[in-house]
Amino acid sequence: MLEAFYCPASVAVVGASHDEGKLGHAVLKNLLESGYQGEIYPINPKAEEILGQRTYPSVLAVRGNIDLAVIVIPDRFVATVLEECGQKGVEGVIVITAGFREMGGEGIKKENELLKIVRRYNMRMLGPNCLGVIDTICPLNATFARGMPRKGDIAMMSQSGALMIAILDWALGEEVGFSRFVSLGNKADIDETDLLQLWDEDPHSKVIVAYLEGIADGAKFMEIAQQVTRDTPIIAIKAGTSDAGARAVSSHTGTLAGSERAYEAAFKQAGVTRADSVEELFDYANAFAQAPPLKGDNIAVVSNAGGAAIMATDALDRAQLRLASLEGETIEVLQARLPPGSSALNPVDVRGDADEERYRFALETVLRDENVDGVIAILIPQAVTKVAETANVIADLVHGHDKPVLPCFMGQHTAQVGIQILRDRKIPNYHYPERAVDAMRAMVERWRWLARPAAKHEKLDVRRDQVEHALAEVRADGRLKVGDAEARQIMEAYGITIPQAQLAANPDEAVEVAQRIGYPVVMKIASPDILHKTDIGGVKLNLMGDDDVRDTFDLLMYRASRYMPQAEVWGALVQEMVPQGKEVIIGINCDPQFGPMLLLGLGGIYVEALKDVSVRIAPVARWEAEDMITELRSYPLLRGLRGEKPSDLEAIVDCMLRVSQLAVDFPEIVELDINPLMVHEEGRGAVAIDMRMVLS
Ligand SMILES: Nc1ncnc2c1ncn2[C@@H]1O[C@H](COP(=O)(O)OP(=O)(O)O)[C@@H](O)[C@H]1O
Ligand SMILES: [Mg+2]
Repeated sequence: MLEAFYCPASVAVVGASHDEGKLGHAVLKNLLESGYQGEIYPINPKAEEILGQRTYPSVLAVRGNIDLAVIVIPDRFVATVLEECGQKGVEGVIVITAGFREMGGEGIKKENELLKIVRRYNMRMLGPNCLGVIDTICPLNATFARGMPRKGDIAMMSQSGALMIAILDWALGEEVGFSRFVSLGNKADIDETDLLQLWDEDPHSKVIVAYLEGIADGAKFMEIAQQVTRDTPIIAIKAGTSDAGARAVSSHTGTLAGSERAYEAAFKQAGVTRADSVEELFDYANAFAQAPPLKGDNIAVVSNAGGAAIMATDALDRAQLRLASLEGETIEVLQARLPPGSSALNPVDVRGDADEERYRFALETVLRDENVDGVIAILIPQAVTKVAETANVIADLVHGHDKPVLPCFMGQHTAQVGIQILRDRKIPNYHYPERAVDAMRAMVERWRWLARPAAKHEKLDVRRDQVEHALAEVRADGRLKVGDAEARQIMEAYGITIPQAQLAANPDEAVEVAQRIGYPVVMKIASPDILHKTDIGGVKLNLMGDDDVRDTFDLLMYRASRYMPQAEVWGALVQEMVPQGKEVIIGINCDPQFGPMLLLGLGGIYVEALKDVSVRIAPVARWEAEDMITELRSYPLLRGLRGEKPSDLEAIVDCMLRVSQLAVDFPEIVELDINPLMVHEEGRGAVAIDMRMVLS
C-alpha cells in the first residue's frame, strides 16, 4: 500500500519553481541530484522548463503515470491539487505545505478536507506540514533538506521536520548511514504505526528510530511495535513528556501528548527502547545496527588505562549491569602474558604502554571466555599507543566474533585516526565509557525483553453482572463517584478481599454494627466529597467499646461539618480493625492515548510524597505484575528486612490482576484507588481497606 513512497517509477513536484529561495526549487533540485532514476515531472503553470526539466501546467497534463506527487504550494491550493492527483490516479502524495492542524481552528477543518479527498481516491498521504522522504536505497530525495545522508541500516521517522534537518546535518558530519528517512508531519493519514509495519519487512532497515511527539492510536502502536521489535529493534524519543513540554506539543503539531508514565510503560511493554536525547537515540541505534545481538548480561571491560576502566566499571554498576567474572583459565592466560602492573581481572588493564599486539591478545582472550557476553574496549591515545593499528586490530576482532564489542576511543585529536578507521569499517565509536555502557545497557534490556514470554492475560473468575448492577445504581443516582456500598459490591464481585464494614447513619446504628463486627473497630467519615479522610481527622482506629463508638460518631460528624461544611456526609463507616501490615496502593488511571493504566506503589497516607510507583498499561500479565513489584524502590521492604517475614507478594499480584481485569472490563471506571491494600505476611493475604472509584 505504501510502495509509492519507496521506489516510485515517477514523481511529480507540484510547485516546482525557478526561484532558488522557494522550497519547490529545493525539492526538485534534491530529487535531480539524488540520483533518482524514474521519471520526474515538475508542475508549474507559469513555467516551460525548470532546472532543465520540461514543466507541466498540472498533474492532469502529464501523459504518463504518476506514482508519487510532492506538493509544495500555498495551503489554499492543496485541496484542489489533491483532487487532480486523485483523478490522475496518483498513489501517494507528500504534502510539504504547512498551515493545517498545527494552526488549530480552521486548520483542523482544512486538514480533514484533505483527508477526505485522499480517502475518496484511495491515495495515501504523508503530512501535511512535513519535510518529505529520503530513501538512500532507491535512491530518492523528495525533501527540501540540504544534503543526502549515506546509505546505511537505520530507518528514521520524525514528527518534527526541523529536528530532522538537524539530524540529517549531523549525520552527514558523523557519517551515520540511513536506509529511509521520513518526516511524518501532522500524520493526517500515514502515521508511525504504518511505517513500523512497512519497515519491519524491509531488508535494508536493521533498526528503526523514531522521534515522536504523540502517538495517534496507543493500543494499535503497542500491538504493532510488540511484533515488529521482535525482529527489528525500535528506538524512540518521545518528546513533550514533562508538563511544559506537553503544552508545547499541543501547539506544535496539534497532537495530544499522553502522560509521561503512560509512555514509559507502553514502551517498556512493547519492547521499544526509549532514548531521552538525540545522542542516546543514535548511540543505541549504532549499537543495534552494527553489533551482533547480546546474549547475556555479563560485561567485560578491556582498557589501556586504569582510570577509564574504573569509570566504565562505575557506570556498569550504576546501570545495574554485571561485571563478568572471568574464568580461571582466562585469568591464568592473561596473567602469564601481560606485563607486571596490568590487571588480568575484569576490568582488564593492559597498561598504557600496550601495543596493538598486546591489546589484541587481551581482547581476544576475554572474548573467548564463556562468562563474557559483551565487551567495552577502551583506548586512550597515550605516548606510545598505536592508535590506527589498535583500531584495525579491534575491528578485526569485532567482525570475527558474535559477541558485541563497543569500542571507546577517548579523545578527539589523536584518537581521531582510530575513530575514522572504525567508522570506515562500520563500527561505531563511543567517546566516553559512560556512553558505551549506556548503549550496552540498552542491548541488555533488549536481550531481557526478547527472553520474556509474550504477555499472556489470564481470565479470572469474576462476576461481571454484579459490577454492571452496582455501576447502574451509581448512575441512576446521578453520581459519578462510587459510594462505599457499591465499591464493596464491586470488589467482592472481582474477588478482592475487603474488611467487614457497614455504613452507620447515627450513633446507635454505629454501635450495632460495631458489636456485630466485634471489637476493636475503625470508624471513618463516609462522604463522596472527602477524599483524604485522615487530613481532617476523619479516621479513628482501634475503638474498643460502645461508648468509644458513640463519641467517635459525634466527633466525626463535628469534624466533617467544621472542616468540610459543603460536603455531603452519609454517616460513618464502621470497619473491622485489620492487623498491621505493609500498605501498598493499587490504582487505575485512564490515559487518553493508551487507555487504563495500572499503578502499584508504596501506599498509605504518604504515597504522594514518596512517589514510589510503577505502572503498566492494562491488561497486565502475571509476570508483568511481578516485575512491577520488584521495580519499586521499596521492594526490599516487601521482601522483608532485618528479620521480618516477607510480605504476601502473591496476594499483591492477585489483587493487581483483578484490578487490571476490572479496568479492562469496565473502561467507564476512569479512576480507581485502593489505598491502602494492607498486605500481611506470606500466606496471610491482603485486605483492601480504603477505595475510591470514579466513572466517566
Ligand atoms: N480498617 C482498618 N484497619 C487498620 N488500619 C486502618 C483501617 N482503616 C484505616 N486504617 C489506617 O488508616 C489509614 C488511613 O485510612 P484510610 O481509610 O485509607 O483513609 P484516608 O486515605 O482517606 O485518609 C490507612 O492508611 C491505614 O493505615
Ligand atoms: Mg486511603
